[in-house]
Amino acid sequence: MREPVIKGEPNEHDSPDSRKKGEEKRQADPVEEKLRPQKLSEVIGQKSVAQRLAIALAAAAKRNEPLPHILFDGPPGLGKTTFATVLHNELGVELNITSGPALDKKMDVMPFLTNASEGSILFIDEIHRLPKTVEEFIYPVMEDFRVDVVLGEGMSARTINLPLKRFTIIGATTRSGMLSSPLRDRFHMHEHLEFYENDELARIVVINAGKLRTTISEEAAWELARRSRGTPRLANARLRWVRDFATARADGQITLPLAREALEMQEVDEQGMDRQDRRYLETLIKVFRGGPTGAEALSATMNVAVDTLTDEVEPYLLRKHYIVRTPRGRRATVEAYRHLGFPEPLPEPELNLLDPQRRLFD
Ligand SMILES: Nc1ncnc2c1ncn2[C@@H]1O[C@H](COP(=O)(O)OP(=O)(O)OP(=O)(O)O)[C@@H](O)[C@H]1O
Ligand SMILES: [Mg+2]
Repeated sequence: MREPVIKGEPNEHDSPDSRKKGEEKRQADPVEEKLRPQKLSEVIGQKSVAQRLAIALAAAAKRNEPLPHILFDGPPGLGKTTFATVLHNELGVELNITSGPALDKKMDVMPFLTNASEGSILFIDEIHRLPKTVEEFIYPVMEDFRVDVVLGEGMSARTINLPLKRFTIIGATTRSGMLSSPLRDRFHMHEHLEFYENDELARIVVINAGKLRTTISEEAAWELARRSRGTPRLANARLRWVRDFATARADGQITLPLAREALEMQEVDEQGMDRQDRRYLETLIKVFRGGPTGAEALSATMNVAVDTLTDEVEPYLLRKHYIVRTPRGRRATVEAYRHLGFPEPLPEPELNLLDPQRRLFD
């Protein structure tokens, strides 16, 4: 297997000065890397996405062409980076990795473009955070594999078209809505990743327990799956915690009672919600009387970054119908009240009955 290559000027990107505001440096965790599927056949779930990618791979191989540009979107931890890695392994081509916030200026992206080899993959994570000027700079790259470089200034300025090798850009975003449509349209394939089903997560847990040389009972794997909010990354994190717990407290074998005890200690509840999820719902219900309220107000009250709430906390709460989004903001549903054990709010129809104006139109 080929290791991902990070090209350009790694030192420049790593230096604290060039670290962009708000950009977290996500260090590659060796255990996490070990758990990542390497081939398309190892990918669990996301069936239709995997099938379409298999077609794209086969067509590219038959025509001896690079893969089309692909955009992956979906909440964190569902497999965007994994799919990019899998495609690079399947093709046996070079993979260069960068991210929107690291590409501040046109010149930051230049080495990635000029060094790209024929058929290679350039993975741009968090592509929605690409500055507009850089975004426009890569339009001709995506369309015609060329860059337009302006040399000189004023009257003597001239544009040089620099031809590039034919390569593939894979973009990943947790916010496809923030992408400009010209950029979105330049991707030939748009793949949306959905939350996983429990049986899929249970299979991931069993396979990864094997990779970590740990024994886990079927019921324990199912329990971890059920409490992982439909997210493989969380399933892996829960597995690693429960494995540590089983090693420290017992003989290292993960049984259902041990898994339950470990998750309880981590304050992960029956539905897989952690402290932050519950705090979100509690704030919405107690402080904002169930809403509707905006994400900014919630973020300020909870003292948590608004991006963390919208990207990491809300998608699963929305999917589980604990909250709904209305034009006036987020609202807690009856399920949220029930989950936290709060008395349920008066249902809407009864509220309407109290309102004589409303009754006129019923
Ligand atoms: N389809 C899958 N089958 C098995 N394991 C998976 C799958 N998708 C993801 N995983 C596991 O979940 C982990 C997290 O996935 P990944 O890093 O691809 O998420 P991501 O969508 O790129 O998240 P982020 O938005 O935070 O970058 C991977 O390391 C891998 O172990
Ligand atoms: Mg990723």
